[in-house]
Amino acid sequence: MIPSRLLRQSVFTLCLSLIVTVVFAQGQPGSGEYAPKEGQEGKDVIWLPTAQELVDKMLNLAKVTPQDYVIDLGSGDGRTVITAAKRGARALGIEYNPDMVVLSKRNAAQEGVADKTQFIQADLYQSDFSQATVITMFLLDEINLKLRPQILDLKPGTRIVSNTFKMGDWIADETDSVEEGEKCSQYCTALLWIVPAKVEGTWKLSQSELTIKQNFQTFSGTLKSGAKTAPVVNGKLSGDLISFTVGEATYTGRVSGSNMQGTFNASGRTAQWKATRISKVVQASPENR
Ligand SMILES: C[S@@+](CC[C@H](N)C(=O)[O-])C[C@H]1O[C@@H](n2cnc3c(N)ncnc32)[C@H](O)[C@@H]1O
Repeated sequence: MIPSRLLRQSVFTLCLSLIVTVVFAQGQPGSGEYAPKEGQEGKDVIWLPTAQELVDKMLNLAKVTPQDYVIDLGSGDGRTVITAAKRGARALGIEYNPDMVVLSKRNAAQEGVADKTQFIQADLYQSDFSQATVITMFLLDEINLKLRPQILDLKPGTRIVSNTFKMGDWIADETDSVEEGEKCSQYCTALLWIVPAKVEGTWKLSQSELTIKQNFQTFSGTLKSGAKTAPVVNGKLSGDLISFTVGEATYTGRVSGSNMQGTFNASGRTAQWKATRISKVVQASPENR
C-alpha cells in the first residue's frame, strides 16, 4: 500500500513540476530564442524600440484606419507594424537584421495579427515603399534626409511619421509628444508630414496666369491678369488639397497632376476656378537671378 501511494505522489509531483515549467516557459523567450538588446548595432542605426505610448501617438497622428497600408522602415521587434495591424490596417516591416525579422513574425503571431502583417529582411535603402499610405520610422536625421527625395515622390497625401528625427528644412505639419517619464524615457516626440502635391510652375486659368514657387507644403507666387500682377500669399498644400489668397480672394481646391480646380470666395461672392499647368519651371525673377 505504502509504496504505491508513494509512487502516485511522486507521479503527481512530477506532473505538477512539468506543468509549472511549461506555463513559465510560455511567458519567457525560449532558451534558444533570440533576445535583442537595446542599443545593439544595426546596419545604419542601432535598435532602440519606440515606447508603446509613442507608437500609439504616431499612429493617431497619421490617423491610421483599416484602409491604410503602413510600412515601418527599420521595423525592429515589429511593434509599430503589429499595433497598426491591430487597428485593422495591413502593415509591412522592413528590417535588415534577420533575427529581428524572425522575432517580429513570432510577436505578430502571438498578438493574433500574423494575417495582417508581413516582415521582410531587406535594406530600407534598396526597398520600394511606394505603395504605402503611411510610412513610420525611427531612424536618424541624416537617413530621413537621404530618403526625402523618394518620400516626396510618393502619392500626395501619404502620411509620414517619425519618432523624434526631422526631415531637414521640410518642417513637420504636426507634432505630438508623450511626456518623458515612466511611459517614455527618451525619444518621446512624434512628427507628421503629409506628402504635398507638386505644384511648382506656371498655370493657366480662364483669364489669368498663376505662377507658383513651391517650398514643400507652402508656396508663394503671382497671379497675372492682363496688365495687373498680384502676389499670391498663404499658399498651402495638404496632400492634394490646395489653398491660397490673392488680394481679397481666397482660393481652395484639389490638385490632380497637371490640373487643379476648386472654388474661390471674394467679397461674399463664390465661383469656380480651374487651372492647367503650362510649365513646371518658374522663370527666376530679375531680383532672384
Ligand atoms: C531605432 S530602431 C527602430 C525600431 C522600430 N521601428 C521601433 O520604432 O521600435 C531602428 C531599426 O532599424 C534597423 N535598421 C538599421 N539600418 C537598416 C537598414 N539599412 N535597413 C533596414 N533596417 C535597418 C535596425 O536594425 C533597427 O531595428
